Amino acid sequence: MLTLSTNTDYYLDLEERYGAHNYHPLPVVLTRGEGVFLWDVDGKRYYDFLSGYSAVNQGHCHPRIIQALIEQAGKLTLTSRAFYNDQLGEYEKFITGFFGYDKVLPMNTGVEGGETAIKLARRWAYVKKGVAENKAKIIFAENNFWGRTLAAISSSTDPSSYRQFGPYMPGFEIIHYNNLPALDTALSDPDVAAFMVEPIQGEAGVVIPDDGYLAGVRELCTKHNVLFIADEIQTGLARTGKMLACDHESVRPDILILGKALSGGTLPVSAVLADDFIMLNIQPGEHGSTYGGNPLACSVATTALQVLKDENMAEHSAEMGEFLRSELQRLQSTYIKTIRGKGLLNAIVINHPNPEAAWELCLHLKEEGLLAKPTHGDKIRFAPPLVITREQLQECVGMIGRALGKL
Ligand SMILES: Cc1ncc(COP(=O)(O)O)c(C=O)c1O
Repeated sequence: MLTLSTNTDYYLDLEERYGAHNYHPLPVVLTRGEGVFLWDVDGKRYYDFLSGYSAVNQGHCHPRIIQALIEQAGKLTLTSRAFYNDQLGEYEKFITGFFGYDKVLPMNTGVEGGETAIKLARRWAYVKKGVAENKAKIIFAENNFWGRTLAAISSSTDPSSYRQFGPYMPGFEIIHYNNLPALDTALSDPDVAAFMVEPIQGEAGVVIPDDGYLAGVRELCTKHNVLFIADEIQTGLARTGKMLACDHESVRPDILILGKALSGGTLPVSAVLADDFIMLNIQPGEHGSTYGGNPLACSVATTALQVLKDENMAEHSAEMGEFLRSELQRLQSTYIKTIRGKGLLNAIVINHPNPEAAWELCLHLKEEGLLAKPTHGDKIRFAPPLVITREQLQECVGMIGRALGKL
């Protein structure tokens, strides 16, 4: 039993037999994490270049976040919102001050945050904008990704997300990303409540819109009296070199959705922030979640945000991102078609006759000691925890160069 428990194949086999087959992981079984590193069950150390899809911005098992987790876990973890708890109000005060909104609505996963934002926008449209009941529309951008619920897949343009899961949510429309004239046309429909968009499309392969796009979105939403919902679940919290990706263009969305790194990768914590004219249209009993706003999450999220600020992670991410992209450029690999990113949210696009080349490169990277995962076939995200150093990045680029050489 002891020998089996340290064997990668044993764990792969367990998941294959007893787990639903809804993921295709790289064949590595991890057992420990610290900072930028992960260790597998055979003791091999890796650089983490995925960071739990940007949930681990602060680094694995950040000591301050873990301490907050342990301390609060020993006191009180869940009350439900049937009662008050002594953590929620303090957290609400902290996070609304941190991001400059009147109110926060705490949820758990990112996709619940998205659902909540849409409900808030629809309600605002009926109560404040005067849209006829059940006519409100939400506009999304092509290739968006915001999760796997029925609403999320109803706005998806990826068949692997929505195929054979219909019927779909009505009242959703999809336009091209990074296209302001298309947005202008879509928003001129008086039934439109909101435009929900990722400031940089993460899952689509780190697709960065043109400079001025976010400012244009802000302007058009204001012009048409439509709410601008920014899905900053992947781009927010210092990942792109600013606390929010919207900060790159100094724009303030009407509804801000956060998740992932809001707990530093310790538990599902999401938050929806908005001002009173949006938030107060929802009354007691009209929305909620058993775990939303639980004291454990509140304590952890407060510390996770504080850590980002105290350790200047946004500035560091901006600097390290520039360095990583320039070092990748210096590899001059013919197998890399594109290098793009902002801060430490980066991707390369592979140029290789073998359609499986990105997957194979990730297997070679794993052998070198670096974990990354392809998205949409030919793209690989390079998004290490934000605590990575220049020297560590240099070592990683060496690994990437050697792995490319094995293609
Ligand atoms: C931009 C964006 N929004 C929403 C989500 C959904 O978050 P969760 O998986 O926590 O539901 C994701 C997850 O990858 C995401 O990248």
